Amino acid sequence: MERTLVLVKPDGVQRSLIGEIISRLERRGLKLVAMKLMQVTEDLAKRHYGEHAERPFFPSLVGFITSAPIVAMVWEAENAVEVVRNTIGGTNPADSPMGTIRGDLALDIGRNLVHGSDGPESAQREIELFFKTEEILEYGRSNDSWIKEL
Ligand code: RTP
Ligand code: MG
Repeated sequence: MERTLVLVKPDGVQRSLIGEIISRLERRGLKLVAMKLMQVTEDLAKRHYGEHAERPFFPSLVGFITSAPIVAMVWEAENAVEVVRNTIGGTNPADSPMGTIRGDLALDIGRNLVHGSDGPESAQREIELFFKTEEILEYGRSNDSWIKEL
């Protein structure tokens, strides 16, 4: 089953939107398989956002993600990466459709509440950055057959 990394960024934690964001992913039917409240170090931030190292917004992005606690999670579903990205909305909340997390709850590209991996390879790389293997749980849900035709 595909897995993806989701972060409730510092703005989401500060704005008391942890539950709202988790709730949207839960209600969609994805399965939560790992979660922790944590402070991102500068080293982890630079590795996580390494692909953006040369971009002008990189220093402020690293400053922001390390500025206050975040919630890191791993969510599982068939096509988890794509489904989570669609649930989150586009990078700029101003252009994100209503019904998406960013479109409903955010305004600014630098305060867009949540991160979702952008592909299966980045998901694997990012999950390994944030979680040890034993922190990711495997378990069944009694309602799985009501979410997905098996
Ligand atoms: P994320 O990685 O945080 O989930 O966001 P994303 O895939 O939608 O966007 P990405 O291109 O990976 O950019 C990472 C974060 O950098 C900030 N950004 N600012 N000022 C700008 O032009 C700009 N572009 C990107 C955003 O906060 C974005 O979430
Ligand atoms: Mg990204």
